[in-house]
Amino acid sequence: MKIINYNLIIVAVLCILGCSKKENINQPQKENMEKIQVSDYGVTAKGDSIKKYTLTNKNGMKVEVINFGGIITSLTAPDKDGHYEDVVLGFTKPEDYFNGNPYYFGALIGRFGNRIANAKFILEGKTYDIDKNDGPNSLHGGKEGFHTKFWNIEPVKGAKFPTIKLTYTSADGEEGYPGKLSTTVFYTLTEDNALEISYEATTDKATFVNLTQHSYFNLSGNFTKTITDHELQINADKFLPVSETLIPTGEQKPVKGSPFDFTVSKPIGKDINVTNDDQLKKGKGYDHNWILNGNGMRSIAKVYHPESGRVMEVLTDEPGVQFYSGNFLDGKFDTKTGGKNEFRTGFCLETQHFPDSPNQPSFPSTELKPGQKYQTKTIYKFSVKK
Ligand code: GLA
Repeated sequence: MKIINYNLIIVAVLCILGCSKKENINQPQKENMEKIQVSDYGVTAKGDSIKKYTLTNKNGMKVEVINFGGIITSLTAPDKDGHYEDVVLGFTKPEDYFNGNPYYFGALIGRFGNRIANAKFILEGKTYDIDKNDGPNSLHGGKEGFHTKFWNIEPVKGAKFPTIKLTYTSADGEEGYPGKLSTTVFYTLTEDNALEISYEATTDKATFVNLTQHSYFNLSGNFTKTITDHELQINADKFLPVSETLIPTGEQKPVKGSPFDFTVSKPIGKDINVTNDDQLKKGKGYDHNWILNGNGMRSIAKVYHPESGRVMEVLTDEPGVQFYSGNFLDGKFDTKTGGKNEFRTGFCLETQHFPDSPNQPSFPSTELKPGQKYQTKTIYKFSVKK
C-alpha cells in the first residue's frame, strides 16, 4: 500500500512539475518578445529630454517612436527570407528632428494635414489667419505644427498588443487655429505585423482638424535607392487635381487613362516622368490626394517591392490619401543606411480628409465642434509575397 502511495505522489509531483515547466517555457518567452522599452534619445534646444519607446511584437518586428512630434524613427519589416530591416526614412542625428524636420520624417501631423489655401479660413462667420509656411499657403498645421511638439507618452497597461498612448493639448489660438484641442494618438504593434494608429481629439470651440502620419517608406531597406520600382495599387477612381501651389482646384477627376490610374498595381516609376501631364509637372511627380473608393474601415492601398518581397497594405476609414513620391527630398541629409536622402528615395501614403477642406464646401467636412469627438484609424500592415 505504502509503495503505491509513494508512486502516486511521485506521479502527481512529476505532473505538477511538467505542467509548471510548460508554463514557464511559454509564458516568459512571449512576455520577453512582446514589449515596450524606454531609452534616452536626446535633448532639444529648449531642454526637453526626449525618450524613445521601442515596441516589439512576438515576431521580433520593432517600431521606435519618440516623444518629440510623435515621430516614428524606425520600423522594421520582414523580407521574403524573414529578414527584418528598417523600412522608414529618418535622420541619423536627433537634432535634425528637433530643428525643423524639413521633410516631416515620421511625424504626427496636426492640426491640419496638408495645405490650406492662403493660410486662411472662415468659421462661424469669423476669418482666421493661420501660419503661412508654404508660399501663400499653410502646410501641415504651420511651422510649429504637431510635428514639433513634445508629446506625453505612456505605455497602455493590459492592452492586447504593445501599445503606447500619446497626448498633446494644443492651446486655443496655436498657429492661428481656434479652440483648445486635446489630442490622443495610440500606436499599436499587432502580432500580424501591423502598425495601427488611432487618432482622437476634442475641442472647446469650433475648429478644423485633419490629423495624419508622415512616415516615408522604402521597402527595399536601402535608403539610397529610389522607390520608383515599388508597385503601387490605390483603390481610387478619382483624384484631386491641384493648382500651381498644390491647392485642389475643386475638380474631382477620374484617374482612368491618366498617369494617376493606380487602380491596377503598377510600378510608381511607370508613368511618373510622363512629360505632357500638367498635374505631374505641378506636383514634380505625385503629390496629390486620391479620393478613396468606399466608406468605413477598408483596404485602400497596397505596395509591393519585388526584389525584397515586402508588401505594405494600408487600411483606413478616411476619405482620402495623399500619395507623395518624395519629390522634395534633396539630398541634404544622411540616410540611416549611408549616402543621402535623395529625390524619390521614399514615398508617403498620408491618409486624411481632403486638402483645403475648410475652404471647399463640396469636400467632406473637417469641422469639429465642442461635444463632438474626432476619431479615425489607419493601419500599415506588412507581409511578404514570394
Ligand atoms: C506633404 C506635401 C508635400 C511636401 C511634403 C513634405 O506630403 O504634400 O508637398 O510638402 O509633405 O516635404
